[in-house]
Order: sequence, then structure tokens, then C-alpha cells
Amino acid sequence: MRSKIKGTGYYVPDNVVTNFDLEKIMDTSDAWIQERTGIKERRYAQKGKETTSTMATKAAQRAMQQAGVSAEDIDFIILATLSPDYYFPGAAVLVQRMLGLQKKEIGALDIRTQCTGFIYGLSIGDQFIRSGMYKNILVIGAEMHSMGMDMSTKGRNISVIFGDGAGAVVLQATNEEGSGIITTNLHSNGDFAEELAMISPGCHAGYHEQNPAKYGAESATVFDSVFITPKIVEDGLYFPNMNGQLVFKNAVVKFTQTIEEALRDAGKRKEDIDMLIPHQANLRISQFIQKRMGLEDDRVWNNIQRYGNTTAASIPIALAEAVENKAISEGDLVCLSAFGSGFTWGSVLFYF
Ligand code: ACO
Repeated sequence: MRSKIKGTGYYVPDNVVTNFDLEKIMDTSDAWIQERTGIKERRYAQKGKETTSTMATKAAQRAMQQAGVSAEDIDFIILATLSPDYYFPGAAVLVQRMLGLQKKEIGALDIRTQCTGFIYGLSIGDQFIRSGMYKNILVIGAEMHSMGMDMSTKGRNISVIFGDGAGAVVLQATNEEGSGIITTNLHSNGDFAEELAMISPGCHAGYHEQNPAKYGAESATVFDSVFITPKIVEDGLYFPNMNGQLVFKNAVVKFTQTIEEALRDAGKRKEDIDMLIPHQANLRISQFIQKRMGLEDDRVWNNIQRYGNTTAASIPIALAEAVENKAISEGDLVCLSAFGSGFTWGSVLFYF
């Protein structure tokens, strides 16, 4: 028994925010953003009306429609997000409720591996299907970054990069030959946990005291607290932080390693890949991987120019868009690959 991606769907909010819109609220420029990241515009959800779980539900409904299954056919929900509606419970149970599945009482799981979340979700779903436990699983990636970014000049290195949206697939049991997921691999290295992170609010007392050289002596007192303090609020320390250059250096190495590992496990070569869909971290990172893999432009799907980096949602949105545009045909060998906060990374190789 294998798992096949039976249906795909995505949802992005209507509200388009261009680089020129950002120029009006912070000291940045269209030229800087495009040159460093390739991004031209991104979408922001409608505040007060849309949330991570509402976007996730819309993407899931589209994936189910394409798969020809109804909500009642779904056995399990996996949702990857770093921007859930609530601190707890996770957003997967909210999706379950919106799909009207409370009576069926199916399981709903949140995944916390950021940009690699969808890859982890697919791998977990694949194991459940291979073991025979479930037949139809919704795997979703959804993010609402616009709710929690520093939109002043201070936060520009991060806020210009991220956007909102959701993508989903229906993973279905199949025993068709030459169909479905062949291999998945998952990795992490906790040494880099704080290099791309949002550590407040949280219960991280002590970490900064042990690392004064890295974070400055003052950070020990600022962060030596549990969950949230007036100081954290006053200084805006509840925004994400990113060591961009370190992320770039690690991303290009680990992306290459995880794709090569997937090919090796499946007994395939680079030339066999019909479509590579990398996590849309940064167009420069994707172009670097494309060159390393020696793939032509029509064998790599990029849409970061239009949506920015949507973290866990980026791969399922790109996959659904590639399917919609008929850039992937039945039987094609597709590689999904991600690197992100944690650091975490991994790949999924499958026949469409
Ligand atoms: N607009 C204008 N200037 C900016 C902006 C901005 N939005 N952001 C930063 N700058 C300025 C900085 O203040 C700095 O100015 P200074 O030299 O006067 O101090 C200058 O630009 C260079 O800043 P760096 O942070 O060194 O910028 P860098 O050239 O490294 O580019 C970037 C930043 C694009 C994030 C780059 O490091 C990168 O591509 N990193 C990869 C990480 C990445 O893409 N992360 C995406 C999300 S993570 C993920 O999905 C895995």
C-alpha cells in the first residue's frame, strides 16, 4: 500500500501588497526586495475575518473537491503552521470543526516544523497510510504571517519576505503500480534553533544567560522570564528574528543533500525529476538549487514572486498551482523539498 496525492487545492487572500505598498510604511525599496529575494508582491489576509484555520479550510475543501472525496471520507487531518489561531489548542481541530467533522471525532494533528512542516506532514501521513491505519488524510500547510510582523523599518529584513496563504492535499491509499509517494526523508539540527525563531512569548529562561556572548549581556535580563513581561511588549521582542546570511548558507547545502538523499533512496537520478518544487524561501536559494541540480526552468516551480514566503503553506500552494497550470502530468516524478527554522529540512519524492 502506498499513498497518492489524489487532490490539491490552495487559497490565497485577495489583498495584494506590493513592494511599493511597503515602501510607504518602512524604509525599503522594490529594487532591494526584488534583488535579494525575487519577491514582487504578497497577499495579506483580511484582519478580523480571515485566520490561518479559515484559509486552511478553504484550501482543504478545494483539494477534496479535486480528489472527488467529501469531508466524511477523511480519516485524519494534519496541519502544518507556525501561525496558529490560538497559542493552544492547535489549528487542526478548528479545521476539523469548520469541515463539520466534530461528530465523526477524527484525529487532528498540528505540526510545528515551520518551513519544513508540510514535508513532515506528508511523511507522517504516508506512514499512517502504509500501515493501513487510514485511507484518506488531509495534509495542509497554512500561515497568517501578516498578524505578527514588525512592519516598521526595524523589522524590514523579515517583514518584506513573508506572506499569507494555505495549500492542501488529499493523501489517499493506493496499490496502483508507479503511483504515489516513493520515499520521504526528515532532518533537523537544534544547534540552530534560535537563528530563525520567535522565542517570546515563551518559557525560555536561562538560554540567553548561558549565551551572553551571542545575545548580549542585556538579553539575559530581558529574557530571563516566563512567557511575557512588560519589557518584552515595550521592546517588541515578540517579533521573529532571523540570521539571514546563516540561513542562506545552510539552506543551499541542506536542500541539495536532502534532494540527493531522496534520489538515492529511490534509485533515481537528477535527470529523472520532472518537477522540483522547493519551499519558496527566497528566489535566490531556489535558483542556486536549480543550478546545482542542473534542471531547466520548466522543471522547477517558483511562485515566490507573487506570494512571498508563506512558510508551511508554500509547497502545497506551489504544488496546487503547478497542477492547475498543467505543469505536472500523471506519472511525473515530482520532488518536494524544504529547509527552515529549527533548522529542519527534508524531501518527498513521488509519482503524480
Ligand atoms: N529593505 C532595505 N534594506 C534592508 C532591508 C529591506 N527590507 N532589510 C535589510 N536591509 C538592509 C540592512 O539594514 C543592511 O543595511 P546596513 O548594511 O546599512 O546595515 C543591509 O540591508 C544588508 O542587510 P543584511 O541583513 O546583511 O542583508 P542580506 O544581504 O543578508 O539580505 C536576506 C537579507 C535577503 C534575508 C538574505 O540574508 C537572505 O537571502 N537570506 C536567506 C534567508 C531567507 O531567505 N530567509 C527567508 C525565510 S527563511 C526560510 O524560509 C528558510
